[in-house]
Amino acid sequence: MSASSLFAHAPAYPGDPILSLNEDFQRDPRADKVNLSIGLCFDEAGRLPVMHAVSEVERRLQGPHGEGPRPYLPMAGLGALREAIGRCVFGADSPLRAEGRIATLQTLGGSGALKVGADLLRRLFPEAGVWISDPSWENHRVVFEGAGFAVHTYPYHDARSGGLRFEEMLAALSRLPARSIVLLHACCHNPTGVDLSSAQWQQLIPVLREREAIAFVDMAYQGFGEGLEPDAQAVRTLAESGVACLVANSFSKNFSLYGERCGGLSVVCATREEAARLQGQLEATVRANYSNPPTHGARVIATVLDDAELAADWSRELGELRQRIERMRHALHARLSGRIGSPLLDRYLQQRGMFTYTGLTPPQVERLRQEFGIYLLRSGRMCVAGLNARNVDAVGEAIAQVLA
Ligand code: LMR
Repeated sequence: MSASSLFAHAPAYPGDPILSLNEDFQRDPRADKVNLSIGLCFDEAGRLPVMHAVSEVERRLQGPHGEGPRPYLPMAGLGALREAIGRCVFGADSPLRAEGRIATLQTLGGSGALKVGADLLRRLFPEAGVWISDPSWENHRVVFEGAGFAVHTYPYHDARSGGLRFEEMLAALSRLPARSIVLLHACCHNPTGVDLSSAQWQQLIPVLREREAIAFVDMAYQGFGEGLEPDAQAVRTLAESGVACLVANSFSKNFSLYGERCGGLSVVCATREEAARLQGQLEATVRANYSNPPTHGARVIATVLDDAELAADWSRELGELRQRIERMRHALHARLSGRIGSPLLDRYLQQRGMFTYTGLTPPQVERLRQEFGIYLLRSGRMCVAGLNARNVDAVGEAIAQVLA
């Protein structure tokens, strides 16, 4: 038997709906191509910003031997970063933190947090099912199925109105088997940009509590909705409500440090003693996956968040990115309203965060790519942060043409 035939049964990978599309975009030779596919927050010049606070810290970290020695970090990651994760996610004055009820890890971005959390839950609740929103981030299903769970959906987005199917969502969740895992988005829902209001969170929490559900909250876009603090409000209310909860948070987007793979996983526990045990379980899960996380991004982010002036500078610059996205929403809306009057266009203004769920069909999305070099996800998700003053008119015109 020749060596190659040993792998004859390995199927071809059809590619990832987000990452492979982004690679296709990179290979596209057209000069006027527009990347509205992956969740990257570009600046007005179409570049990924290097935030001022980040370059300042990187400058400070440079000694005669660059950044200096790089030992292994603890399995849980950098202590200063873990503290900062607690403050960012749960608030500086969080009673849960004061009571020592949160186990925390530095993770490989938000995806790494989901993976470690999924592996942990699979060990602790092997019989549980996972419920994700319909639709949800493409990779949620992949991560949880990869950890061995059966993944189901609960009603979420209303394709007709562009809003939420909240009553149906509540009804579905109130029928879940006890101790199910419910994946929720903290803010800036990916892919729809449609979030629960605070009143809706208040209605959801008793349902989760009644079902003894385990809430797994994905917070990849903190700071892109209304701001760092308001975007964390729902998570904080949920965590303090007594519902068992895990929170995956990402610094990829809000620090524009995608490639550093830096995020956090927090588990909110009933007691300090339980949190200590969960901390050990989290570390065991990391050891079994990748041993310990990398140093550079963690040092940079922790240094920014530990310095009041740098943190304020970072927050201000993040606010500018958020406002730029908002301006692009208005610019695209204005362009489209001039061409195709439809109440459905209001979704461009109502949805929050980087994404808008356009309602464009897969053939329309395909036409945008083929004819105009404009890349959206096949689901119709558009990353509004890829728009700028130079391309927004052309994008609006192209969308109007494929809708005609
Ligand atoms: C996205 O949704 O585009 C981002 O979160 C990037 C990714 O890993 O999918």
